[in-house]
Amino acid sequence: MAKKIGHILAIDQGTTNTKALLIDETGAIVASASHPVGRSYPAPAWVEQDAMELWHSVQSVIETCLSTAGTCELAAVAITNQREAALLWDRASGQPLGPCIGWQCRRTAAACEALKAGGYEELIRERTGLMIDPLFSATKARWLLDHVEDGQRRAEQGELCVGTVDSWLLWNLTGGQVHGCDLSNASRTQLFNIKNLRWDEEMLALFGIPLAALPVVKPSSAIHGTTVQIGSLPAGVPVASMIGDSHAALFGQAGFQPGVIKATYGTGSSLMTPTLEAVISRHGLATTIAWGLGEQVTYALEGNISVTGAAVQWLGDFLGLSDPARDVARLANSVADTHGLYFVPAFVGLGAPYWVESARGLMTGFTQGTTAAHLARATLEAITYQVRDVFDAMQKEVSTPLNVLLADGGASQNHDLMQLQADILGLPVQRNSAADVSALGAAYLAGLAVGIWASEAEIEGLMRQSDRFVPQMSASERETKYAGWRRAIEQAILPGS
Ligand code: G3P
Repeated sequence: MAKKIGHILAIDQGTTNTKALLIDETGAIVASASHPVGRSYPAPAWVEQDAMELWHSVQSVIETCLSTAGTCELAAVAITNQREAALLWDRASGQPLGPCIGWQCRRTAAACEALKAGGYEELIRERTGLMIDPLFSATKARWLLDHVEDGQRRAEQGELCVGTVDSWLLWNLTGGQVHGCDLSNASRTQLFNIKNLRWDEEMLALFGIPLAALPVVKPSSAIHGTTVQIGSLPAGVPVASMIGDSHAALFGQAGFQPGVIKATYGTGSSLMTPTLEAVISRHGLATTIAWGLGEQVTYALEGNISVTGAAVQWLGDFLGLSDPARDVARLANSVADTHGLYFVPAFVGLGAPYWVESARGLMTGFTQGTTAAHLARATLEAITYQVRDVFDAMQKEVSTPLNVLLADGGASQNHDLMQLQADILGLPVQRNSAADVSALGAAYLAGLAVGIWASEAEIEGLMRQSDRFVPQMSASERETKYAGWRRAIEQAILPGS
């Protein structure tokens, strides 16, 4: 079959930014654009975004990216997105009904506690691969339906659409013609049966979410719809992939086979390792669908850490620094250690592998000698300890040795953080040189769907260079520091602390 030619426009809609990359047939990035998106915090531990602002940010990056690139033939649009966030909109008008409830939002904590008390943990885990936690979309969708007049009845009659961010973008890109999502996003809703690959009737009944309101689910690499004209984006371009950002990063790192493990360093962090089948974790990890490619479904174990980059942002704001990422890194680098200070950034409870909703942020080990630089270093160290917590849990689950951690995401550009990560893991860390691996992963999946590339082997051939960081810390220093972290974690999860 003749190879298709053309560019792929990859959209990465994240928690803090929306990005677009234009990628050619060699996998090279020929244009890019970025647009920040806001968040609001209407109550403690509540996080929400404006659905229309998310869509407008996508329109903006498409426009900038395409106008920078000039004339080119677009073969496909690819979407990757922040996961688990839930939206509700009116099918007739396309107007959002309520906010986009962010993945970090804990407003449904009480509903989750009630499900735990009702003894639903095993059933939910067995059907969806997920633990009961406000992170996932199901209780958020329930909240949205409960806060719209006549929401339940209207949803049952198909007047309302419940969706994840990929669904919302697809809906808008196709001018309201398609309400769809992909297997990876569906697998983060807690409503999807990850074994038979359908919305699970019992889960829908448990959460009271009508099937009529839910999107059609397709493989990640598939023609999900075609665009209508939106500014410089022409009509008729296939939306040829949709995939959650963490999953896309694993694909973008060519993490196709068991034994590969990657960490994406973003607002929070996500570690993922592919598995041949759905492995139900006993060590605090979620079982998820990595992606669907043709008939083939790849599963993965995932550990979500709620707060990593967000802790750097918080500390920067707290200290009044003008550029948190840069200034915290500089401060941290000005001292050799934390003087025994530990920071557990459990702002919204603790995610994997602990899953303690009631935990809250904690700093421990202050002395009169503690300075802002020690706080900064403790913040970066906290990222690496949290990643090690999940890495160790993953190694307990899988028989293949995990020998190297593949790193990507914004904070992975921090050289010192990567070195510290290798030191705390006691294993090499390999950093992808591409800053936007999720967008690349989504583009590769779209390229496979439209025939620009033919196989995973061909995708591996597109990989760019990476940097390798090898451990330099002694084993005894590493384990002493890590033991201190575990003590700090215990303090953070003490009742009433
Ligand atoms: O699970 C949440 C995750 O998908 C958010 O990613 O890149 O927006 O922090 P990011």
